[in-house]
Amino acid sequence: MNRTEVAGIGWAVAASDCAGGTDEAGESVADSKRVVVLASGNGSNLQALLDAGVEVVLVASDRPDAYALERGRLAGVDTAVVRPADHPDRRSFDRALRDLVAATRPDAVCLAGFMRVLGPEFVRAFPDRIVNTHPSLLPAFRGAHAVRDALAYGVRVSGCTVHLVDEEVDHGPVLFQAAVPVEDGDDEASLHERIKREEHRLLPVAVGLVASGRVRTDGRRAWLTAEVPGR
Ligand code: GRF
Repeated sequence: MNRTEVAGIGWAVAASDCAGGTDEAGESVADSKRVVVLASGNGSNLQALLDAGVEVVLVASDRPDAYALERGRLAGVDTAVVRPADHPDRRSFDRALRDLVAATRPDAVCLAGFMRVLGPEFVRAFPDRIVNTHPSLLPAFRGAHAVRDALAYGVRVSGCTVHLVDEEVDHGPVLFQAAVPVEDGDDEASLHERIKREEHRLLPVAVGLVASGRVRTDGRRAWLTAEVPGR
């Protein structure tokens, strides 16, 4: 099998050039596959996917006020809200979200600032097809306040990690990472803004590759293969 380590130097460099590119069959890597995006907030990462030509078939949120929903509507994408408060427990929320997403027959699911932990009911339905972006260099600073925690720790370099989702939080195999230096005078907002620029660059590439079936895993390692299923 022709395989290349996804997170290797070559790919980190190539990633900056290949968003919206074509694969060896001349087919667009990003725009021919069906992608569902889950988002809880502003949705700048969703916007990066849309701008890169990723075919987003549904934007779903746990929050009716998420601006990501408006971004989806403006782009003509179906939107949906699944509120935890409308479900008796987490399993039932996970199932409802799973069924909603599965009904769209996605090639990939992207967590783009989705601030809920998804349980096994959801994760097992889309094995190695869920991509998350996290604003730190994992495994450092997991959790909901990664940028704040990195600043409080006094790190001089942080960054982002785009990874596959498994059943642990901020944990699955790494696809891409980018380092972002901490500058004197940075606060949470300014550092997060620069980290997001890197997320916006890497996330569409990662989602395009996963949706195209080009990513394989071997334990914690993710590999890129030239083989595309069904060809
Ligand atoms: C991103 O930095 C992502 O890593 C984190 O939440 C942020 C979402 O930003 N989980 P946006 O809503 O895409 O602008």
